[in-house]
Amino acid sequence: METSRTQVVIIGAGPAGLLLGQLLLNQGIDHVILELRSADYVRGRVRAGVLEMPTLEALREARVSERLDRESMRMPGFNLMWGEDSVHIDFALVNKYATVYGQTKITRDLMDARQAAGGVTHYEISNTQPHDFDTAHPWVSYEKDGRQFRIDCDFIAGCDGHHGATHKAAPASQITTYDYAFPFGWLAMLADVPPISEQVAWMNHPDGFLMCSLRSKTRSRYYFQVPRGEELKNWDADRFWKEYRRRLPPSLVDNLVTGPALEMSITPLSSSVSTPMRFGRMFLAGDAAHVVPPTGAKGLNMAMADAKLLFEGLKQYYGDKQNSTLLDTYSDDALARVWKAVRFSWWMTNLTHKLSDNPFNRKMQLAELEYISQSVAAQTTIAENFCGLRSRG
Ligand code: APR
Repeated sequence: METSRTQVVIIGAGPAGLLLGQLLLNQGIDHVILELRSADYVRGRVRAGVLEMPTLEALREARVSERLDRESMRMPGFNLMWGEDSVHIDFALVNKYATVYGQTKITRDLMDARQAAGGVTHYEISNTQPHDFDTAHPWVSYEKDGRQFRIDCDFIAGCDGHHGATHKAAPASQITTYDYAFPFGWLAMLADVPPISEQVAWMNHPDGFLMCSLRSKTRSRYYFQVPRGEELKNWDADRFWKEYRRRLPPSLVDNLVTGPALEMSITPLSSSVSTPMRFGRMFLAGDAAHVVPPTGAKGLNMAMADAKLLFEGLKQYYGDKQNSTLLDTYSDDALARVWKAVRFSWWMTNLTHKLSDNPFNRKMQLAELEYISQSVAAQTTIAENFCGLRSRG
């Protein structure tokens, strides 16, 4: 086995791992990122694209915001629509805004910056395994090209997503996972067509949710609700556009421009939170610790917020004579924010999706949507949650 040593081993080069890596790199804290997939695969992954202000600030702090500041679009609010009715949720109610910038671009910016600064990432590794994180001498083993490696370290950052090695390695007697699966998923399409609306819109249709999101003035990301278990092979672009058009509010139908799909995918919707987010010298961040349905645009922001919080703990530890105060409160501080974001995503999902065939559910949704449209207090609550809550206070 080939051995080496570093201060922090980051497992996973998703948004959480890449941001943590960049912040550590700028701080001069020695670390390595280990990633299962190839660099091209990570670079090409299409996912989220709405950033809360703390995410924007973290990317600026990591000094990877040059292109973001140039190319991103400000999102001043969004529309909630049902039938011919709608309400605009204006983020000015809480003096904030969100930012539209695709995760693919964030990934590319972080990977480019990492490469330019000489950060070490090992791609296409397998059998990643964290060891001895309940002692002062943790280490990680993995394989690459048939060779076996061992890296000794001070800390392990588990940024390896929902099915990663770190979550699995957490001792069963110490971890508690709270899961909730919605009985539906989202069929998504990315296409180079101008968005039907400049405002991102969440739409409640009697046959199921649909959404208009955008990545730029010429690139749209559209979604609609499909039953859990629906298979992608049953859908092509034509069928997608037909169903999307059918569910659109009549006022938006004329704006719909169709085109070839750049990407289509199906995501089952579920919520999951594992507690705690620390096991000795191993810390979980992002999807490794929690997942949310995409309805509230929280997943990417939660991953970034965890990475930033963990960075603060590591910075204090290495910069202040191994002071572990912030590392010791990492799990509680992160979870205080995580549960609120999970609640908001769950609530938005329940408000906007077809929950069952029971018409009572829809009546409740319509009453709530109408209430929101009449109440500035309700709109303010939504804006406050959407733009991101702090951990405490
Ligand atoms: N060893 C090494 N790497 C692994 C392993 C493993 N055993 N298992 C998974 N990985 C890698 C994956 O290939 C992936 O690149 O870890 C990375 C995890 O990245 P994400 O799943 O994107 O998780 P995270 O960084 O927490 O970001 C999650 O981003 O796309 C948004 O909303 C989405 O909530 C989601 C958030």
